[in-house]
Amino acid sequence: MIRYFITASVLITLALVFVAGQLIDLAAAAPGLQTPTIQNERAFNQEQALAELRKKISEQKDRPAEEVFKNIQLHKGVPAGRLLSIMQMGYSKSLGVDCTHCHVVDQWEKDDKPTKQIARDMALMVRAINNEQLKKIKNLKSENPVVNCTTCHRGQTKPALNLP
Ligand code: HEC
Ligand code: HEC
Repeated sequence: MIRYFITASVLITLALVFVAGQLIDLAAAAPGLQTPTIQNERAFNQEQALAELRKKISEQKDRPAEEVFKNIQLHKGVPAGRLLSIMQMGYSKSLGVDCTHCHVVDQWEKDDKPTKQIARDMALMVRAINNEQLKKIKNLKSENPVVNCTTCHRGQTKPALNLP
């Protein structure tokens, strides 16, 4: 009987130590979790960021984006000013997000958010649909049928699979 109690209390003590350890881990992890990005995104003003960028490149807005910006892999040959309109309308608005969904503000050239590379891959997919897939379909109404980001996204990051 006494042995049973000793074994039981040892087991309970071990369980308590384990649970306490988990709680301490959680408490240690919690403070750093999301606060910085949330604050950063609350403070972000897209109109102001665009105005500053437009001002900064105003003398070079007609030059190719890859000569004005630092890390243009896809939109080569597009005038720098138009790249900003693509960012504003084609990317932010059609997904219903602001610039911070894909960028760390003021570090526009960095590829540190996975969504930025996803956007490049999506743009390649759109090109393939427009240049290859759609061209194979006969008897469509438009002479030059196209899809773009809005076709699927319609203001949301995750395109719908069903009607509401
Ligand atoms: C859905 C993702 C996405 C959103 C939203 C987005 N961007 Fe971008 N941005 C990209 C991608 C992808 C590139 C790189 C394009 C390429 O490689 O041709 C880029 C490139 C840029 C560059 C060029 C940086 C450099 O020096 O290479 C600037 C400036 C920029 N974006 C500004 C903005 C602004 C301002 C907004 C908000 C109005 C915005 N972006 C919204 C994906 C995004
Ligand atoms: C043929 C439909 C289609 C088109 C066109 C399309 N997308 Fe997407 N996009 C998707 C699907 C499907 C997903 C995956 C959603 C999920 O996670 O389930 C997605 C996801 C994304 C994501 C990740 C969103 C997130 O926050 O997780 C980004 C960024 C994105 N698309 C950008 C773009 C951009 C920019 C364009 C235009 C160049 C574009 N997409 C065009 C279907 C499309």
